[in-house]
Amino acid sequence: MKKGFVFAVVLALFVALAGCGGKTAEQTSGSGGGKQKVTIGTDASFAPFEYMDKGKIVGFDVDFLDAVMKEAGLDYELKNIGWDPLFAAVQGKEVDLAISGITINDKRKQTYDFSVPYFESTHMILTKEDSPIKNALDLKGKVVGVQNGTTGQAAVEKLLGAENKNIKKFENTVVAIMDLLNGGVDAVVTDNAVANEYVKNNPDKKLRAIEDPTNFESEFYGLMFPKGSDLKPKVDEAIKKVIKSGKYAEIYKKWFGNEPNVDNLLKQQ
Ligand code: ARG
Repeated sequence: MKKGFVFAVVLALFVALAGCGGKTAEQTSGSGGGKQKVTIGTDASFAPFEYMDKGKIVGFDVDFLDAVMKEAGLDYELKNIGWDPLFAAVQGKEVDLAISGITINDKRKQTYDFSVPYFESTHMILTKEDSPIKNALDLKGKVVGVQNGTTGQAAVEKLLGAENKNIKKFENTVVAIMDLLNGGVDAVVTDNAVANEYVKNNPDKKLRAIEDPTNFESEFYGLMFPKGSDLKPKVDEAIKKVIKSGKYAEIYKKWFGNEPNVDNLLKQQ
């Protein structure tokens, strides 16, 4: 009798947890008043750009996207579909575009169209405070975690060799950092704002974020579209307006606490 009760409680708890841990969070904007509605995909495991907070997708990208869509006069639905599936979903036109801290590069440009750049980034090494790693060259001979299919992976492969067995690839950045905390990898290479955010928010974890401008290049993020998307011109115009109007700086300050280098960004466009 008692056993049955315990089992029922455990089962109920499991069902409740499963219900809120859903990977398919979706959120919708606007009033729907006859505007064109676009479907947008993301991988919400990349704070402070996009992450799940109390069942909602939040972050710098989410606020920026909202401002851009308002400016473009588009209604939208944002879906958390994960990093690898995101590229397939854009290519297969299951979504109209993606926002996910996605770096614009020549390789991706062969398959996708990108908006004008909206954020400058570089890579950083996340490692334990007491680690002997001081720069990117120190990663040689170490086990290094990256999110699979990211420019972080490409940067580490360039340093250590593409076939190097010491490069451990993870589905997302959250699990890569968890493996670092558990001692599975010696370092994680990820985008600088993500590394800094993690260190700042988790002082108890005793991690350090190391920059290395000699070995890590500068990159720019863009919204990613299927090739030939007719949304791109409209969205590009809206991005430029959001950057020039001061709205971009407002959102940037909310998430990063300082002023963005808007001139540098506009120079890229
Ligand atoms: N900027 C890097 C890239 O484009 C990493 C982006 C990862 N974004 C994410 N939401 N998981 O490859």
